[in-house]
Amino acid sequence: MNMIKTELISIDPQNIQQDKLSCAAEIIRNGGLVAFPTETVYGLGADAMNEKAVLRIFEAKGRPSDNPLIVHVSSADEVPQLVQNIPEQARLLIDRFWPGPLTLVMKKSPAVPLSVTAGLDTVAVRMPSHPVALSLIKSAGVPIAAPSANRSGKPSPTAAAHVIEDLTGRVEAIIDAGSCNVGVESTVLDITNGKPIILRPGGVTHEQLRTVLGEVSLDPALLGKVSESVKPKSPGMKYRHYAPKAQVIVIEGDINPAADKIHELYNKYTSEGYRVGIMATDETQKLYPVPIIISAGSRKAPETIASSLFSVFREFDSLGVDIILSESVNTKGIGLAIMNRLKKAAGNNIIKV
Ligand code: TXA
Ligand code: MG
Repeated sequence: MNMIKTELISIDPQNIQQDKLSCAAEIIRNGGLVAFPTETVYGLGADAMNEKAVLRIFEAKGRPSDNPLIVHVSSADEVPQLVQNIPEQARLLIDRFWPGPLTLVMKKSPAVPLSVTAGLDTVAVRMPSHPVALSLIKSAGVPIAAPSANRSGKPSPTAAAHVIEDLTGRVEAIIDAGSCNVGVESTVLDITNGKPIILRPGGVTHEQLRTVLGEVSLDPALLGKVSESVKPKSPGMKYRHYAPKAQVIVIEGDINPAADKIHELYNKYTSEGYRVGIMATDETQKLYPVPIIISAGSRKAPETIASSLFSVFREFDSLGVDIILSESVNTKGIGLAIMNRLKKAAGNNIIKV
């Protein structure tokens, strides 16, 4: 693709400079691409109602065209134009979790271009809580279609530096407003048929959804390997993504046997000449007296692990490791999203102890 000039726009999320924001909004209105922060990860935005602009997102990311995009709104009032009807469950969820990291899959209205939904008859919608994202959507005056702002296959970006690394020369502008809080992407919830199904675990937890909806199931594809022949409901989930360049191996099980296994594998791969890094936690990092060890956060506060997971992946890449041996975490709460991303990164290279 032709390289273009990428403008870097720094915005203070606590004190948004309107002139800078208007610049970015105008780029969106003119069919351009703007990467912007959300509370989960950075998104790569375009006018969701402009087919041509949306197609440029796929090109800039190198994203397969069968993987649909999330449409971002700045208010629940913008939802009716996007969907056929708003199910009662959506009203309850919007009341409780918007703005925030919950994406709702509903039947699409004809107004939404098919390139956004990759030909599906459903559309994924979310209202982010990041002040810069909300102001950008409001100021653009159109809903913004945005996948995560990484090159396809790379970990999602949680800081502007990651976006700059991946998308410079491919987008009109990148807004830098610091790092993202949540760190893993939104929860994608299918509510098209009255039986809510989590297609992707994320910032809003299974437990939280249950408090509002009662029964909520997990897409079977989340629990095991997706075979090539099955068409998963959330097309994005079939790709090995969120992945660093290094091969990730997840060691699943209680800490002590897991640490023993990690030591064993560390010695094996190191003796074979590989550069090996270990991903652990604040509580366990002292178990591994090796040169390349990174703590992703505290087991007592798993949201800290979610928040730094993707930047830790990128850090290992910058250290040039060939293999990352990673501990696992409990799948309660946000832990489900963390383990989902780890397993995706590992391409299901998981060892149970
Ligand atoms: O937190 C997030 O959701 C971030 C920020 C930027 O909002 N966005 C994000 O977008 O993670 P993306 O494109 O990287 O992931 C969107 C996921 C994919 O797995 C995609 O397949 C699924 O949502 N998805 C989108 N539309 C869908 C639909 N109509 N039905 C089922 N799954 C859908
Ligand atoms: Mg993504």
